[in-house]
Amino acid sequence: MAKPFSNLLKLIGVAIVAMALLGGLAYQLDRLEVVSLWGDFLGGFHPVVLHLPIGIVIAIALQTVWRRWRGTSTEGEDRLLWVLAAVTATVSFGTGYLLVMGGGYQSEHLTWHLWGAAIFSSLCWVGLAASCWETARWARDMITGGVIGAVSVTGHYGGLMVHGDPFAGAPWLNDPQRFAKFGEFGPEVRVYDEIVVPILGAKCVACHGPAKQNGRLRLDSFEAIVAGGEHGAVLFPGDLERSSIITFISLPDSHNDHMPPPNRPQITPPELAGLEYWVSSGAELDQVVSGEEPPAELAALMVPIYRLLEDPDALEAREAQEAEEAEQRVINRERLAADLAALPEHQRLGFSFEDLESDRLHFSPATYRHLLTTEDLESLLPLLQASVKVDVSGLPVSESLLRVLAESSQLNELDLSETSVGNEVFAILGKTPGLQRLNLFGTAVDVNAEITPGSFANLRQLFVANTAADVAALDVALPHVDVIGDLGLAPPEAVEEEDQSSD
Ligand code: HEC
Repeated sequence: MAKPFSNLLKLIGVAIVAMALLGGLAYQLDRLEVVSLWGDFLGGFHPVVLHLPIGIVIAIALQTVWRRWRGTSTEGEDRLLWVLAAVTATVSFGTGYLLVMGGGYQSEHLTWHLWGAAIFSSLCWVGLAASCWETARWARDMITGGVIGAVSVTGHYGGLMVHGDPFAGAPWLNDPQRFAKFGEFGPEVRVYDEIVVPILGAKCVACHGPAKQNGRLRLDSFEAIVAGGEHGAVLFPGDLERSSIITFISLPDSHNDHMPPPNRPQITPPELAGLEYWVSSGAELDQVVSGEEPPAELAALMVPIYRLLEDPDALEAREAQEAEEAEQRVINRERLAADLAALPEHQRLGFSFEDLESDRLHFSPATYRHLLTTEDLESLLPLLQASVKVDVSGLPVSESLLRVLAESSQLNELDLSETSVGNEVFAILGKTPGLQRLNLFGTAVDVNAEITPGSFANLRQLFVANTAADVAALDVALPHVDVIGDLGLAPPEAVEEEDQSSD
């Protein structure tokens, strides 16, 4: 019994001596005034060297397990590995110490990393001694276990210092759906907590949060945002131009500093407007706005269907569909452009595309109006059916033309003012699905107009000024529609008087 016991004492002695030597090494390094160049140079090798002892002690542990399992216990065969482990661990400790002295590692994890490394290195020397003295097997196994434990702790804190917590980025903790939408907005909305945090969480925190601190910037807490990043403050309350948290988002996509980087979910215009609102109104932690009547800058975000991030599968499907639609738009537009090009000028010039990429036409003949005949309109029917806005005011609109237009799935706005249409228009257009605005100014519609219940489902504005229509009755028949009778002009008598006086 005496021998193993004295061996153990000797091992403890080795541990103490090793710790003391490492402490002495650190003390000496601390006193060095000339660390700068050589220190930085050697410290730079720490990330390379540190992997050697890790690999070696893992090899020792595996070898031990293997031998215990096979029952082949050849004492002392791991001695060379222990020598390598002890030497490389000590070199790692020294280079690591130099690296820390080079600065830039002010981290709460540093202390744990340093103590872990000192204990790990000492244990490697103890392991070597135990191997040399052929200490009892259980003692050697415990040392091996301790070495693995120490290297895990050390490596964990080292990793935290350099890369942040790898588990913070774990897929099971970072389901993007968690951030996918805003919560419900109550009567009072805390702008920072309920709007800013979810936006940054969905679009920025993956790279500026616990898992990574790109640009040494975290955006996952108010304090961190205020603290700023590598190049100082990113938030200047009230100053959009200086706040890089805003300006980097507004940079063109192709710009190197554009945030978020390409191929990441981007900030949408309403989200940017929301962030800008917060910054320009003082970037307070506790700012509150009304949830019932939110400021215009926030209103678009606060609709219940707003999604910050979409389900990736749905997103992919939607993008594919959008691409297909865009392709179809190009084809439609080319076809329409060719059709338009074939028209005589007085017909063609009434048409324009809604915008540079759209395949949606507007028709408003303006100065060519007086040249257009009933036959002209008949021949334009296919193009009118492809139009979203059709202005045929003052033109000879036949009932058959009206019926064709009523079939259009595109038509949003129809201007029939100063045409000869009468009450039949309500029956004919009542089922036009997309019709939102209808102008019947100066037409023959009158008090006898009949509205089929449920018709004009999407209509929002109906102009019946300068007609004999009963605005009040229309209002009742079409409760969801803004029925506009007089245009806020002076009453008819006054207008007449003015007309007379100007005559
Ligand atoms: C895919 C990762 C990624 C995402 C997502 C991301 N960033 Fe960044 N961000 C970076 C990187 C990398 C840098 C460092 C760029 C450099 O140093 O040149 C950086 C730097 C910055 C900086 C400059 C910090 C400084 O002080 O130098 C700001 C500000 C910034 N990001 C804001 C944002 C905002 C706001 C969002 C969300 C809308 C965002 N980032 C999303 C990767 C990301």
